[in-house]
Amino acid sequence: MKLSSDEQAMLDGEDGSGRQKAMELLVRYGEALGAEKFVDTDNVTGTMGSSSTFIRDYFDTGDDRDKLFSYFDLDSDEAVEIPKARTFACHLQTRFEPQRPDLHDTPAGALEFHQDNQEYTAGLGVKMLNTCTPYVVGNTPAQGEHCAWMESSAVVYCNSVLGARTNTEGRESTSAAMLTGKIPDWGFHRDEYRFGSHHVKVETPIESVMDWGMMGYYVGKMVQENIPVIEGISAAPELIHHKHFGAAAASSGGVEMYHVVGHTPEADSLEQALGSRKSAENFVYGINEMREAYDELNAQGNSDDIDYVMLGCPHYTLEQIAVVCRLIEGKKVHENSNLWIFTSRAVRNEAIKHDFHKIIAKAGAVLMTDTCSAMASATPAGTKVAATDSAKQTYYLPSMLGVEAWFGSTKDCVDAALTSKWRGVCP
Ligand code: F3S
Repeated sequence: MKLSSDEQAMLDGEDGSGRQKAMELLVRYGEALGAEKFVDTDNVTGTMGSSSTFIRDYFDTGDDRDKLFSYFDLDSDEAVEIPKARTFACHLQTRFEPQRPDLHDTPAGALEFHQDNQEYTAGLGVKMLNTCTPYVVGNTPAQGEHCAWMESSAVVYCNSVLGARTNTEGRESTSAAMLTGKIPDWGFHRDEYRFGSHHVKVETPIESVMDWGMMGYYVGKMVQENIPVIEGISAAPELIHHKHFGAAAASSGGVEMYHVVGHTPEADSLEQALGSRKSAENFVYGINEMREAYDELNAQGNSDDIDYVMLGCPHYTLEQIAVVCRLIEGKKVHENSNLWIFTSRAVRNEAIKHDFHKIIAKAGAVLMTDTCSAMASATPAGTKVAATDSAKQTYYLPSMLGVEAWFGSTKDCVDAALTSKWRGVCP
């Protein structure tokens, strides 16, 4: 790779051994990718500094946090002193709910170790947003801004909706980017990589979060890791629609960017979205495809007896919490069921100002932050059958936690929590 003078200085160790190890890692990474140079970044989102007790013990680092960061975040055989972040950096979701440790079935010492991780990472200057939706709570990069983000649902939002630029980075590359302000100039950082390849003609109304989630699931399955261009959407999609569409498409496929003609920043027209090239594949998304998506998503549901309803994947916005509060106010979650709602710390703080937390608690539901069922491997004890309004979570719950899962609208899911029965229908 061609290095600028500041990059070479970091590689030579002039800014200390921590940044030197980070540059060494990034040069190895960039060369493996075939990148010729770096771009500057001042926006990094990852899980820097987080690790499990297993990893700590595997590397035999005891309480030495810099040593663990050197080995695990920077892939360095040598333990070095870790300096503060050079960029704006945020932490993503974690594996723990900080206020309800009783809800987790965790090994002894794991929660305390997690809390130490969090303090260490905050001490490096990382903003502990602890959410998969950093773009909802203060990290909203501008169009064209180079970023280094992890978390598939956040990456696809960053590229597609904000028009900012990131690949799906990993823990090591985000940790190194945060220390150096550099990331390889490759993939979605480059104009030529951002054009659509698959044309999707939408021929059925797409309005609700559920509609967008089902379409995201179907489109992701069809295009896999390619870039779909969605045409035929009249009303401008809202943030929550993009959030559910992108998360689903990134789960059933590996979609890291999409265009919605007339609505996303690099798709004023079909020609612009495709980069004036012919699409590699064309398909229609109509009522039959929607039904197919619904049936596939619900193929993992069998029993109608619902033990658990999970809402908040990706983490719920304030408006989604308000919708649920309208549906549950004055009612009670059924004694045979549970309702857990996941959001970010910042949104929960806002929810408290509106007394939403009281409505939720009075109904017997739980509002949680920082994590989700899939991340924490946590469901209410004895859960066999779950329901959720997230296509992504429907995709993961059966495979990760071995439970049955139903997918439906938020209203269907709340009804399931209140009655303990699944009565969802395809729209
Ligand atoms: Fe977020 Fe968990 Fe879904 S981290 S995107 S709520 S799987």
